[in-house]
Amino acid sequence: MIPKEKFYRAYMEFFETAERKRRWNIFDDVPWDKLSAVANSEERAIRIETYCAEEMYLPDYNVAGVEMTRGDFGLAWFQTCWTHEESRHGLVFREYLIRSGLRTQEQFDKFETDTFSRSWKPPFTTRRQMTCYGALQESATYLAYKAQKDRAELENDKTLETIFFFVSRDEAAHAGFYREMLALELAEDRSGTLADIAMVIANFKMPGDGLIPHYQEHLRIGGGGISARQFFQRAVLPTLKYLGTTRDELKGAVTLALGAAS
Ligand SMILES: [Fe+2]
Ligand SMILES: [Fe+2]
Repeated sequence: MIPKEKFYRAYMEFFETAERKRRWNIFDDVPWDKLSAVANSEERAIRIETYCAEEMYLPDYNVAGVEMTRGDFGLAWFQTCWTHEESRHGLVFREYLIRSGLRTQEQFDKFETDTFSRSWKPPFTTRRQMTCYGALQESATYLAYKAQKDRAELENDKTLETIFFFVSRDEAAHAGFYREMLALELAEDRSGTLADIAMVIANFKMPGDGLIPHYQEHLRIGGGGISARQFFQRAVLPTLKYLGTTRDELKGAVTLALGAAS
């Protein structure tokens, strides 16, 4: 068993950085007064709306996360802190859609009812598998948001640039925490953790994929997704490198796990 103290210490480090360096708020830190300088488009509306929908399943993400981590101080408090940080993401996208005029209140209300008519279910069953998923999903989300920050910078869109700077920085911090947790799992049970990582990579999809109608199509129209190649090269490979493992070792662990199961 991984000593609980390790989770607690990792969380305290995460929380200290979050409190001292990473806090932001939608009231004072986003330049809403720069909104009118940028021409709106339906393509932009679809892109932000898709991100907003994905962030709006937070109640479901939270329920699953709390259930898996309750009973462990460090992990349960991380989950709670994570939920608070993620709550700002859906909120800032919602405010953007309304304040920019890209969506009317009536349109958003309809979108909200439709989004909440479905619910997200965790794609994997154990805490360790969900830790693998968290590390990859947060990395992929970081990459998508960072690309949006760079794009907004090129388009001289200060409002979106600021929003995506804050949300991408949060996602990077979340990915970092999950990677650290994964390193603890690996030190505890190397072959079992590697088999889980391989399984999660093989079955990976973003939370909105299959849940939000026309998810892939809307990301394509809005220019909001990342390619499978980018995901592999910039999320999977750096995670494996951080953990000190390779694709070959992963394959070996899968063969071993399959052999033990047969
Ligand atoms: Fe988020
Ligand atoms: Fe996140």
